[in-house]
Amino acid sequence: MQKIPSSELTPEGLYLSRRALLGAAGALSAAALLAACGGGTYVPPEVLEQEAAGLTDELGAPVNSFEAITTYNNYYEFTTNKQGVARLAANFQTSPWELEVGGLVNKPRVFGLEDLLAFEQEERIYRLRCVEAWSMVIPWLGFPLHRLLTLVEPRPEAKYVRFETVYRPEEMPGQKDRFYPWPYVEGLRLDEAMHDLTLLATGLYGQPLTVQNGAPVRLVVPWKYGFKSIKAIVKIELVDTMPTSLWMALAPNEYGFYANVNPDVTHPRWSQASERRIGEQGRRPTLMFNGYEDQVVALYQDLDLRVNY
Ligand code: MTE
Repeated sequence: MQKIPSSELTPEGLYLSRRALLGAAGALSAAALLAACGGGTYVPPEVLEQEAAGLTDELGAPVNSFEAITTYNNYYEFTTNKQGVARLAANFQTSPWELEVGGLVNKPRVFGLEDLLAFEQEERIYRLRCVEAWSMVIPWLGFPLHRLLTLVEPRPEAKYVRFETVYRPEEMPGQKDRFYPWPYVEGLRLDEAMHDLTLLATGLYGQPLTVQNGAPVRLVVPWKYGFKSIKAIVKIELVDTMPTSLWMALAPNEYGFYANVNPDVTHPRWSQASERRIGEQGRRPTLMFNGYEDQVVALYQDLDLRVNY
């Protein structure tokens, strides 16, 4: 396959929407991010919002407020009540943190948080479309996952990537509910994981990630339903067979492996044709691949998207 520089794969709008990693808060260097993780820098939400004024995605939609992004969350390890996650997550320990990367790779490695922050961090403004048919626009900070995967050198037999969330029932009350097959697991095909849009996020709104949004490190795959974007990752494994995600294990007829945003494939219990953008009145039509069709459609040329939902 011909190699194309990632700058040509990503639309200009995405690059234009990245803010310089500077700013009044001064919290965007790796060192400052680390300091903030240690509880150093606190920037009031009003200041963050002022700095983000006018920020939009490449389609012109404004970013959601810091308040909305950090108080309306899906994080079943804490609770199934979206408005209750932030409070229950308040005492979760994110430091120290280790992310183990292994499996079918030549150079397995354990990354500390400081190693992850040593990758050049960039801002990416992405739409997040939950399978429950609501959405937000979020300014993430992070780096493309392919940069980390390239370092560990996937072997030719590696076909998929499996991700696992931390398992700490003593700090995550939802993990005491044995109905769910914890830990939370997700997966991508290797080519999806290597796509330049696929981000390992370490921050949002120019600040370190809040616990409720997946601190200290989470995945963001903007063309897929939000449940693929697994939070608080401790393990990434390169494997040769399709991983079974937590949602596939629980309800395989409702949640498939691919989970590409698709207005034409209805969820068995509701339509996916439209969505509620948090902060807006009414509904807006859902876009194929969440609006990232041009960049990702080539990944699925040989796939029946109705069967592989
Ligand atoms: N990751 C873990 N570990 N546990 C979860 O419950 N929920 C997913 C995803 N990642 C979830 C998770 C779902 S359903 C969505 S929509 C997004 O996180 C929500 O991300 P946000 O709370 O940052 O908006």
